[in-house]
Amino acid sequence: MQQMRKISSINDLAIMGHPPLFAEPLHVGRPNVGNRERLMQRINDMLDRRWFSNNGPFVQEFERKVEVLLGVKHCIAMCNGTVALEIAIRALDLKGEVIVPSFTFIATAHALQWQEITPVFADIDPVTHNLDPASVEKMITPRTTGIIGVHLWGRHCDTAGLQTIADEHGLKLMYDSSHAFACSHNGQLIGNFGECEVFSFHATKFFNTFEGGAVVTNNDALADKIRLMKNFGFAGLDNVIYIGTNGKMTEVCAAMGLTGLESLDDFVQTNRRNYLEYRKVLADIPGLKLIDYNDLERCNYQYIIVEVDEKVFGLPRDKLVRILHAENILTRRYFFPGCHKMQPYKGLFPHAGMLLPQTEGLNQRVMALPTGTAVTQEMIAQIGEILRLVHDGARDGKLSMDISRMCL
Ligand SMILES: Cc1ncc(COP(=O)(O)O)c(C=O)c1O
Repeated sequence: MQQMRKISSINDLAIMGHPPLFAEPLHVGRPNVGNRERLMQRINDMLDRRWFSNNGPFVQEFERKVEVLLGVKHCIAMCNGTVALEIAIRALDLKGEVIVPSFTFIATAHALQWQEITPVFADIDPVTHNLDPASVEKMITPRTTGIIGVHLWGRHCDTAGLQTIADEHGLKLMYDSSHAFACSHNGQLIGNFGECEVFSFHATKFFNTFEGGAVVTNNDALADKIRLMKNFGFAGLDNVIYIGTNGKMTEVCAAMGLTGLESLDDFVQTNRRNYLEYRKVLADIPGLKLIDYNDLERCNYQYIIVEVDEKVFGLPRDKLVRILHAENILTRRYFFPGCHKMQPYKGLFPHAGMLLPQTEGLNQRVMALPTGTAVTQEMIAQIGEILRLVHDGARDGKLSMDISRMCL
C-alpha cells in the first residue's frame, strides 16, 4: 500500500526540503498484470511441454485470439515492436525515403534508418498530435516510397487523408500502432488500416507480453512474407527460401499475452476511471490541458497527456516536471526532444526543425502523468492538489524564486 504525506501549502512541497508525497516512485507505464494463477498455470504447462519457442501452441493461440479481437485476417506475433516494424518495412519493400512523424518514440525512425532508409520527418496536427497530411504531402520527393503514421496515445491518425495521399503518389502506407491496441476508429479496430499495422506489447504498454509485438494485416501475401521473414526465411525443415531474421515471440511471452487478454476490459476500466478522475481534478487548473479521448470509440486510455501552457500556468513544463519528480511522481516528457533532435537525425538534418513548428511547440508543452492499475483515485486527487498549489504559487509569485534556486 502506497504511503502518502499530506500537502496543503507550497511550503509542504518536497522542493522545500520535505520528503516526497509518495514514499514509492509512481511510474508512467507501470506494467499491468492479469491473473497470476492463470499465468503460472500456463508457464507450468509450457515447462511440462518443453516447447519454449518456434511457433509454439501459446503463440498460435495468441495470434488467433488477437485476430478475432481486432477483426483482422492475420496476426504475426514477434519478439518486440521494433523488430516487427523493421520486418514490416522490409516486407513492404520500402526504400529511399519514408515519411514519419518526429513526434514519436525513436524506434519508428530507427526501424527505417537501421535498414538505410531515410526517415523524413513531417509535422503534426497540434490537436490530434498525429501526422498532418498537408505536411506529409510537402515532404514527398522522387525518392519517397512510403508513409508510416503513428496513432499516438492510441488516438487514430487521419487515415483517410493519409490513404488519399498514398494512393495519389503511389506510396505504401503502414502504421506504427504501438499505442493503439484495442482502440477503434469509426468503429473499426486499429489494425485494419493501411497495408499493415504494428503493435508493441512492451511492458510499459497498456497490454504487455513482457516484451513483444506483432504485425497485423488483411493482405494474405504480405502475411506469408512476414511469417517467413520473422523465422530466418524457413519454409519448413532445412528449407530456407528467403532472407529472414529472428523475430519470433517466445512461449512465455505468449502465455503473458493470453493471460493479459483475459483482463483487457479490467485494464481499460481502470485506465478510464483514472482518466475521468484526472479530467475532474485538472478541469479548473489554468494552463493545463488534458488531451481528449473519444468515448464513442474504443480507447485504452493508457496515456494521461497534459499540455502545459507556460504563460497561463505560470511555470514552464520542465520546472513543473522537476517539482513532480521531487514528489516521486515520475512524470515523463514524451516524446522529448523529438526524433529530429536525436542522433543520427540531428546530425543528418540539422535544420529539420524549421519545417516542424507544431512538433517543436508540443515538445516543449507535453507531459505524461502516471496511470494504470497501480494508481488510485486518491493518488490522483493528491496529484491534482499539488498541481493546483504549484499553479497558485506561481501565479502569486511565491514559487518562482524558490523554483529557480532549488530546481535548476
Ligand atoms: C510509438 C512506438 N513505436 C515503437 C515502439 C517500440 O516498441 P518495442 O519497445 O516493443 O520495441 C514503441 C515503444 O516502445 C513506441 O511507443
